[in-house]
Amino acid sequence: MNIRLATPADVPAVAKMVRKLCDLHQSWDPARYAFRENIEQMEQSWLTDRAAGPRAVFLVADRQERGPVAFLIGTVEREIRIYKLEEFGFVHDLWVEEDYRNEGLGRQLVMRAIERFEEIGVKQIRLDTAAANEAARKLFASCGFRASVIEMLKENGQ
Ligand SMILES: CC(C)(COP(=O)(O)OP(=O)(O)OC[C@H]1O[C@@H](n2cnc3c(N)ncnc32)[C@H](O)[C@@H]1OP(=O)(O)O)[C@@H](O)C(=O)NCCC(=O)NCCS
Repeated sequence: MNIRLATPADVPAVAKMVRKLCDLHQSWDPARYAFRENIEQMEQSWLTDRAAGPRAVFLVADRQERGPVAFLIGTVEREIRIYKLEEFGFVHDLWVEEDYRNEGLGRQLVMRAIERFEEIGVKQIRLDTAAANEAARKLFASCGFRASVIEMLKENGQ
């Protein structure tokens, strides 16, 4: 399995995986993850922009004959001015196609993303997971992440 930086040519395949990732999150918590219908189209332009630039952290793992079967997308975010830390890396999405799970691919993508953030001078990396997503938390913990903020949610009128 080859892990590499994504190019704009990878975006259509990644957008399909994003759709599945959104559906999964929506099934876990439809209030928190109520995505719009045209999410795939909206994501295409956002992903294409993320695949460019010297500080891109958009990785794909591909099988020669099949193309990308997993991806991770991170960005560099500016922290607000009250904090000493000026910027941090954020891992938005990670997906491994079902047929390729439990082979260590998720961990390789996360470790490569950590290296990539290091290469571009980013000192802290953050991410969030759905409360239901124990598997992802185990994976991230095994790569050195710890729990930080815990988000709470209440729907009004209920
Ligand atoms: C979570 C996900 C990325 C893991 O990918 P993967 O390639 O199967 O993971 P790996 O084989 O690298 O596993 C690494 C570690 O993750 C944890 N893990 C992975 N799948 C797990 C599962 N189903 N249950 C519990 N722990 C799991 C384990 O700690 C595992 O280490 P181990 O094999 O030594 O026990 C994959 O299941 C996936 O795409 N899930 C749906 C999308 C998602 O949840 N994305 C993350 C949130 S943005």
